[in-house]
Amino acid sequence: MSGKIPRQFIDDLLLRVDLVDLIDSHVPLKKSGANYTARCPFHNEKSPSFSVSRERQLYHCFGCGASGDAISFLMTFNHLEFVEAVEDLAMFAGMPLPREETFTPAAPKLDLSRGYQVLEAVASFYLEQLKGPEGQAARAYLLRRGVSEQIAGEFMLGYAPNRWEALLSRFERQALIDAGMLVVREDGKAYDRFRGRLMFPIRDKRSRVIGFGGRVLDDSQPKYLNSPETAVFSKGREVYGLAELLQRQARPPYILVVEGYMDVIALTQYGVTSAVATLGTATSKAHVDLLFRFTQELVLCFDGDRAGRQAAWRAVEAALPALRDGRRIRVMLLPQGQDPDSWVRELGAQAFEQQIAQAMLLSDYFFQYLSADLSLHGVEGRASLLALAKPQLEKIPVGFFRDLMFGRLRELTGKRLADKQSPARPPRMPQGARGGGKSPESNLLRKILSLLVLYPRLAKHAVNQDWLLTDIEPAGAAVLQSLLAMIAQRQPENSAVLLEYFRDTPHYNTLAALANLSWDAPAGGEEGEFRGALTQLARLLRERRMADLIEKVRSGMKLTPEELAEFRAGGKLGA
Ligand code: UTP
Ligand code: MN
Repeated sequence: MSGKIPRQFIDDLLLRVDLVDLIDSHVPLKKSGANYTARCPFHNEKSPSFSVSRERQLYHCFGCGASGDAISFLMTFNHLEFVEAVEDLAMFAGMPLPREETFTPAAPKLDLSRGYQVLEAVASFYLEQLKGPEGQAARAYLLRRGVSEQIAGEFMLGYAPNRWEALLSRFERQALIDAGMLVVREDGKAYDRFRGRLMFPIRDKRSRVIGFGGRVLDDSQPKYLNSPETAVFSKGREVYGLAELLQRQARPPYILVVEGYMDVIALTQYGVTSAVATLGTATSKAHVDLLFRFTQELVLCFDGDRAGRQAAWRAVEAALPALRDGRRIRVMLLPQGQDPDSWVRELGAQAFEQQIAQAMLLSDYFFQYLSADLSLHGVEGRASLLALAKPQLEKIPVGFFRDLMFGRLRELTGKRLADKQSPARPPRMPQGARGGGKSPESNLLRKILSLLVLYPRLAKHAVNQDWLLTDIEPAGAAVLQSLLAMIAQRQPENSAVLLEYFRDTPHYNTLAALANLSWDAPAGGEEGEFRGALTQLARLLRERRMADLIEKVRSGMKLTPEELAEFRAGGKLGA
């Protein structure tokens, strides 16, 4: 995982891989005209509106608007980070992945794959032990807690024998140390970290074992012991039960976030199958971001006592910066003295799910929590609410949800308050690719941009047309300019390569959305369409300019000599 992937490699990779083959190996495609189609893997639909273009190496869904290249496909389909997707794509293409050397060549190379292997082997060992003679007490404990054999198997529960060197005598010492499975004493001696405990393997989203939680079988302390942070394990970013959940359901409608290992086990056993647990740490933004890659809605579930309510609020605070539009969070507080494990056993799955359905919306919870001890009838109370809420709401990313929350705050406090960030919102590209554009000008501009993304070679018709960059609206001009510059500089062989250069830039989403706009080949050929759009846009701008000049004369103002010349020439804009 060290070193950066060289740019050139990504270009080559995108040229080597055929997107049609890649997607076809995940979602069977049918040929239809110039493109290939299927039912969209990213939303539910009856008739196919998912289209893949071999020429452009892009896919596009007319239904949900999903679009992108081979890397985007793997990122979305398999829920991967960019680098992970490139790794998988390189594997698919049979191209070994090179890395640019980093600045610290002396840094020891951690052999991560070795780490994963050891942890997987240890999990198997613990599983054997649970089934063997030493696992008797642990089996009895599971029985006593009502954990079925089937669910224990699904989560691969195991038992760490009550010995100092059960692992040490079987696996390589350094690999165990790197994996956090040993405690190393000051004198250099080491022994097994987990002894005499029921073991819960913790897996990452790709199902690799990255650590363990271990519970004592009696009342001794500490009740739970977790793996320490290692090269592959970070408590603040991982949750328990996600891999198992994704195995059952790749895109759950919601994910329930609870606090304990046993809560996940019991919920799943009883049929509430979309639960994961944080690992004895507070819910973090990284947790929330991770989970939102698989679902649109999170339900954060906490005990109803004081500590639980505080934890819920801290989780909400951490989640606010992750609340882009389209992501939803609800908060569920359990009755005093219950945890999800005990409560689902009492209520059963159906009633428990009803409780989930009734969980509070984050927006309600937010204002209820903050105004709990305030009287909003008086100015003081309202001022306090304002002071408490505003800095929190400012963490929400720009969008409808943020606007709505500020709207609600205004209602509650009766204050006109400046939401500082809102006016600074970056100028929106002319309507993205959704819905009809407003002005004829922005419609034409969008067509020009989308044709450029889909047919980069058309750029030659747009060079030396300086009016394009000076006379159109600034937001559009900025996109156009960077698009033309990139095409001139890199001469991308297809749209996928072109789009990939923009991935981490502010224009990426706009350009990806624009690619959808002219997806179907224009009837009169793309070249004619493109030149036609340029001509029309030039004429439109010229007419508008003339109208401005005429208006200026009418209102009694004098034209400058340049304006006069321009007026006489009927506009400076030749197309
Ligand atoms: P709880 O104390 O609520 O335990 O801890 P629980 O999940 O209900 O466990 P059971 O039902 O008694 O078996 C919740 C979570 O906090 C972390 C663990 O992740 C646990 O699942 N924890 C708790 C620790 O890390 N260490 C501890 O000593 C206790
Ligand atoms: Mn419990």
